[in-house]
Amino acid sequence: MKIELNKNKVFFNNGKSVEEIHPFWLRERVDGEEFLDKGTQQRLFDPSSMNGEIIIKKAEIRDGFLEVDFNDGVNSKLDINKLKSEFSNKDTVIKSIPKKKWDSTLENIKNFEYKEDFFETKEMHDLLVSFYEYGFVIIKNVPSENNYIVKFANSIGSVRRTNFGEHFNVKSKSDPNDLAYTSLHITPHTDNPYRNPVPCIQILHCIENEVSGGYSTLVDGYTVSEKLKKEDPDSYKILTEVKVRFKFTDKSVMLEDWSELIHLDDDKNFKQVRFSPRLDYVPMLEKNKLDQYYKARKKLSDLYNSEKNEVKFKLKPKDLMMMDNHRVLHGRTKFDPEEGKRFLQGCYIDFDSTEGKLRHLKRKFKI
Ligand SMILES: [Fe+2]
Repeated sequence: MKIELNKNKVFFNNGKSVEEIHPFWLRERVDGEEFLDKGTQQRLFDPSSMNGEIIIKKAEIRDGFLEVDFNDGVNSKLDINKLKSEFSNKDTVIKSIPKKKWDSTLENIKNFEYKEDFFETKEMHDLLVSFYEYGFVIIKNVPSENNYIVKFANSIGSVRRTNFGEHFNVKSKSDPNDLAYTSLHITPHTDNPYRNPVPCIQILHCIENEVSGGYSTLVDGYTVSEKLKKEDPDSYKILTEVKVRFKFTDKSVMLEDWSELIHLDDDKNFKQVRFSPRLDYVPMLEKNKLDQYYKARKKLSDLYNSEKNEVKFKLKPKDLMMMDNHRVLHGRTKFDPEEGKRFLQGCYIDFDSTEGKLRHLKRKFKI
């Protein structure tokens, strides 16, 4: 990628084609003290109120800077590397981390170890990259006193509060408003599919685990949906098209949101899965279409519930797990509460927390 000049016009050469850069695009990026606040990097002028007919009177390239005189009397030195970083019209930090597919054969995944000042370290950067690769990460030895999970979450970004509270305590109790608060086997699901937006990341912190059961299970929704796409494209297609209603009700709230079970982005690539068969309601479609839908959902459910696709492990006290709730399904095996205590704490954060932290650490460590 190169910036070139020709008769006071600025061009972007990507090796395949040469395109002129709009003068106003450059004018919006002037960065002298008068135009940009140093601390916040926010503009001190409003380009949306300006006349768009900006012309470049003079342009030069010198020592990695593009020096431009515009026809409105403004001149500026623009850092060429900074300009180049804006040429992509997609997010280059998160999208550049390739998702790794995994199933029950997954092994040797790195566990991270908590230590002081953890959140500002290179280790934290590596942890976040690993999180985006696999959709989950486990951190050992995280302090478990005084609801430390909230401090943990707020040290990455901000806790996403829900009607279950700022954080929630997962232990079996009488009169539960969710099966999570029983000792029953819980099949793979994503959390809160009825919420708009769905919380992005679930954090689960093991405080006590004295029972012999109560294993945690994870399934990669990305791997499974890609598998379905290959093995049964018709089922994949219908599950990416039919929007179903997810709902949750209790004494104080009625939540509802609609989505496909496999949600694709604008380029038809994987974006999000929702799966919680206790809470989904497909609309009353034509009978044949529903026939296809039910077959497809059964196929997807079989894949999600297959031991071949699941990793199973036991969280130990002070283990903390972060899961991408838009990608990874979680569950647990049943346990006998008579055997001892099983106590996990949970909370949610959104992708802006992890993305913001990762970009900051990349800047800090010049990665
Ligand atoms: Fe859950």
